[in-house]
Amino acid sequence: QKLDIELAAIEKGGFDHFMLKEIFEQPQTIFDSLRGRLDPVQQSITLSGVDKIADKLLAANRIIIVACGTSWHAGLLAEYVLEELCRINVEVEYASEFRYRNPIITDKDVIIAVSQSGETADTLVAIENAKKQGATIFGLVNVVGSSIARMSDAGAYTHAGPEIGVASTKAFTAQLAVLYLLALKVAKLKGTIDTTLYHRLMTDLAKVPEYVQEILDEQDAIIKEVAAKYSDARDFLFLGRGYNFPIALEGALKLKEISYIHAEGYPAAEMKHGPIALVDDQLPVVFVATKDSYHEKIVSNIQEIKARKGKVIAVVSQGDNVAAGLADDVMVVPLVHEVIAPILSVIPLQLLSYYIGVNRGLDVDKPRNLAKSVTVE
Ligand code: G6P
Repeated sequence: QKLDIELAAIEKGGFDHFMLKEIFEQPQTIFDSLRGRLDPVQQSITLSGVDKIADKLLAANRIIIVACGTSWHAGLLAEYVLEELCRINVEVEYASEFRYRNPIITDKDVIIAVSQSGETADTLVAIENAKKQGATIFGLVNVVGSSIARMSDAGAYTHAGPEIGVASTKAFTAQLAVLYLLALKVAKLKGTIDTTLYHRLMTDLAKVPEYVQEILDEQDAIIKEVAAKYSDARDFLFLGRGYNFPIALEGALKLKEISYIHAEGYPAAEMKHGPIALVDDQLPVVFVATKDSYHEKIVSNIQEIKARKGKVIAVVSQGDNVAAGLADDVMVVPLVHEVIAPILSVIPLQLLSYYIGVNRGLDVDKPRNLAKSVTVE
């Protein structure tokens, strides 16, 4: 028994839980996902899976992204990024809905299946069906040789390494890293991105591992304190706009999974259509409010929550005193281009859920009722 305990401690590499270890591994895992693919000096991207189906991608009527859970959130961000940079129609589908609703699919469709395990039953059957109807399947998978990887016509691995914590952290940021590479590569091939933006995004992306390290070094202790203040909350609201909307959803999902606190993610402006009714002086509202083209819009959403006495926790860009000045608690991330910002803004939210879960005395690595991989319906 003593040996078992010691072995488990070694596996966790000095961290109390796998989840925390995996959160802290992200500078390395994101680096691994970019390594050998992104060359900021040559300004080139190597993704052999994209080359393999380049003709299909360039001629695609639309891209349909199918996934479940956290991987679906990565897919939702990919929709925003791919449409903006590549000017291709993108739809994001819950695999479980897609497989049962007789979708219209042709050989002009490219399906991107996003899955950490590569074994999620709904995602696997969804792509199997689409393949029969002539679609081309691109798998974005973490587990090498998994069923979804084998079912795909082409793909890219995320290289995040084994993820033990049931709630996904490092697999998610690895998915985002590779989806960014894919979008940049396709945009370049299609000629839908100008050189300045292409260079800017490549440069920011190459520095993401460093930026994530900076967040972990500088914010971990602060977030631990923020978590202590809100660990007894009954409900949480997570709000974000544009590229940060999928991150608001992911923040809410993470908190639900780990702390069993009821949490909802919403597009910030949509709060007026319902969630605002929940706001009182007991409700913590997390704003994913890094600097972007619509920053003043989210600042006014923060003011609306403050006017109703809600408690505001904001993820803000370094140097943004306006959003920071309005919030009760602030978590700061480096200032990068708005397209790249989400891969940074999710990090404080992972830590926030982790510490709240720990404060509530829960088994954060194995939350009740959840499975790492859902291989049955
Ligand atoms: C389960 C896991 C989640 C994961 C989802 C999709 O619900 O607990 O962390 O996001 O399945 O899994 P996949 O392996 O397809 O990414």
